[in-house]
Amino acid sequence: MPNNQKSAVFPGSFDPFTNGHIDIVERSLEIFETVHVAVLENFSKNALFSPEERVALIEKIFKKQKQKVIVETFSGLLVDYVKKVKSRVIIRGLRAISDFDYEAQMALMNRQLDHRVETLFMMTREENSYISSTLVKQVAPYGGDVSMLVHPIIAKALQAKYSKKK
Ligand code: PNS
Repeated sequence: MPNNQKSAVFPGSFDPFTNGHIDIVERSLEIFETVHVAVLENFSKNALFSPEERVALIEKIFKKQKQKVIVETFSGLLVDYVKKVKSRVIIRGLRAISDFDYEAQMALMNRQLDHRVETLFMMTREENSYISSTLVKQVAPYGGDVSMLVHPIIAKALQAKYSKKK
């Protein structure tokens, strides 16, 4: 099959977006012309940032690449969003073998739902392999340094969020 895919979808909760996520978007842009960062619109009470806040923060990070990085929320099935933006590719980052079970389940389910949609896995860089949104949320509320984990835009937003919660 010829590679005629110009865009890919990078979905996630992104609460918050980390340096690991930035790296996956940047490396995806070396393969695809555009990347749709698709922020899951979930209604979890434990969410730190609202979906709209997450979109705004991610847009700010990629301000200089706004033609290539399209940030949107989505709800419902991911494969429907992929179809809506006329892509066929889902990108997911893999940090370690422990990510694999969950990712394989999702990839197989998504293929069941729409066999035209392919999931591509991208290994994170070694230096990002321990980073997760959960880890950020364990350190940031106590004033721990998260500058190795997130972009300064996110670090600032975290600071503002937690100082409001106090
Ligand atoms: O960052 P996350 O939380 O690991 O991302 C998970 C996400 C958003 C990719 C996944 O929960 C998702 O695609 N949800 C939408 C519902 C869906 O399509 N589920 C079918 C695949 S199991």
